[in-house]
Amino acid sequence: MDSILVKGNGALNGVIPIAGAKNACLTLMPATLLSEEPLTLTNAPRLSDIATMTQLLRSLGAEVASLQEGKVLALASHGSINHVADYEIVRKMRASNLVLGPLLAREGHAVVSLPGGCAIGARPMDLHIHGLEALGAEIELKDGYLHARAKGGKLRGAELTLRMASVGATENILMAATLAKGTTVIHNAAREPEIVDLAQCLRKMGAQIEGEGTSRIEIQGVDRLGGATHQVVTDRIELGTYMLAPAICGGEVELLGGRMNLVAAFAEKLDEAGVSVVETANGLKVSRKNGRLKAVNVTTEPFPGFPTDLQAQMMALLCTAEGTSVLEEKIFENRFMHAPELLRMGAQIEVHGGHATVTGVEKLRGAPVMATDLRASVSLILAGLAAEGETVVSRVYHLDRGYERVEEKFRGIGAHIERIKA
Ligand code: UD1
Repeated sequence: MDSILVKGNGALNGVIPIAGAKNACLTLMPATLLSEEPLTLTNAPRLSDIATMTQLLRSLGAEVASLQEGKVLALASHGSINHVADYEIVRKMRASNLVLGPLLAREGHAVVSLPGGCAIGARPMDLHIHGLEALGAEIELKDGYLHARAKGGKLRGAELTLRMASVGATENILMAATLAKGTTVIHNAAREPEIVDLAQCLRKMGAQIEGEGTSRIEIQGVDRLGGATHQVVTDRIELGTYMLAPAICGGEVELLGGRMNLVAAFAEKLDEAGVSVVETANGLKVSRKNGRLKAVNVTTEPFPGFPTDLQAQMMALLCTAEGTSVLEEKIFENRFMHAPELLRMGAQIEVHGGHATVTGVEKLRGAPVMATDLRASVSLILAGLAAEGETVVSRVYHLDRGYERVEEKFRGIGAHIERIKA
């Protein structure tokens, strides 16, 4: 397995282009299953998770062509579709469960493996299941697979309320409802920009949807959907991650494609900590204000709150901020696995249940550390960039799931970072 070597060497300056959102692309791709006509996605990120979704869709009989070095995906699913999503692919990535809603809507039945354990928490699928059951699906678990069947061969619109504003459940139900008979209303729907992006794409395909971006989404089912070309929204998590590079190390970096509305709650916390974020014609410009970073308290919440996917990276920043910060993780129960690794670098962190208390130290020191999940990996790189000496982050395969050309992008702003091939 590859590792990444990082050396702290002062301020970072320059420009980083931000890619299309992994999480948006992973829900837009299965939308191809809803139509016989082609779906073209531009601004796709080049990531191993996208390759996994490609593999899954191909195994279902869809065509997926990767054009312009992967920046454009041409998808089509005409003809017969296989309705079984195999464990061997699904276990690699939880987002594979996003084929369930579309398969059920198109075929009237689907067999999708449960994704299985995930390092950051239990992540069950009950909300997806209850939502699809409300639309008239009968779902049972057999041998690790969800066997779903639409009563009478076709889903029917319904009004339903999600117990939690789950991103994936909202996406699955939204996609399924586009082809259901009648009207569906999802209450307590998730409001993430990736859901807005999905709804916009589905509308281009002919779906009738209102209210995306609010907690009430209404869908009027149609008989068929057509083709579309859609540009994937900017990745707000990649954006937030690179915003932290000049915040931690000093300097000034412009993030091309970034918009404030994608990261407002995060930018507010950066401002409180002593980091300036301004919108420019081409993106966001981030620089450190004068003086040492200040401690801030952070609570992760569904959008528009502070994203759980930036919590690990924010912790890396707070390790050297003056004072004591408390990070509260409200989305995933086991998402502080980066804390013991940051301790190896000299950070002072105490974790109690869903809270981590970070007392800022003057300087972190480089150390060999291990990446435990996608966002934890990049938080260790950020910490390494601010540390004295060398940090080697091992097990970086997680990183390639979510960050394209990560070394190149960091090097583009003057960071000392290299990949050590296994
Ligand atoms: C998506 C993102 C992920 C992000 C997360 C929260 C994708 C591909 N992934 O994941 O990067 O961290 O949103 O912003 O878009 N839950 C249940 N039952 C369910 C579904 C979820 O209890 O049926 C719980 C989960 O365990 C978790 C919470 O709801 O505690 C939020 O999960 P959810 O919003 O569904 O996350 P994902 O869609 O899996």
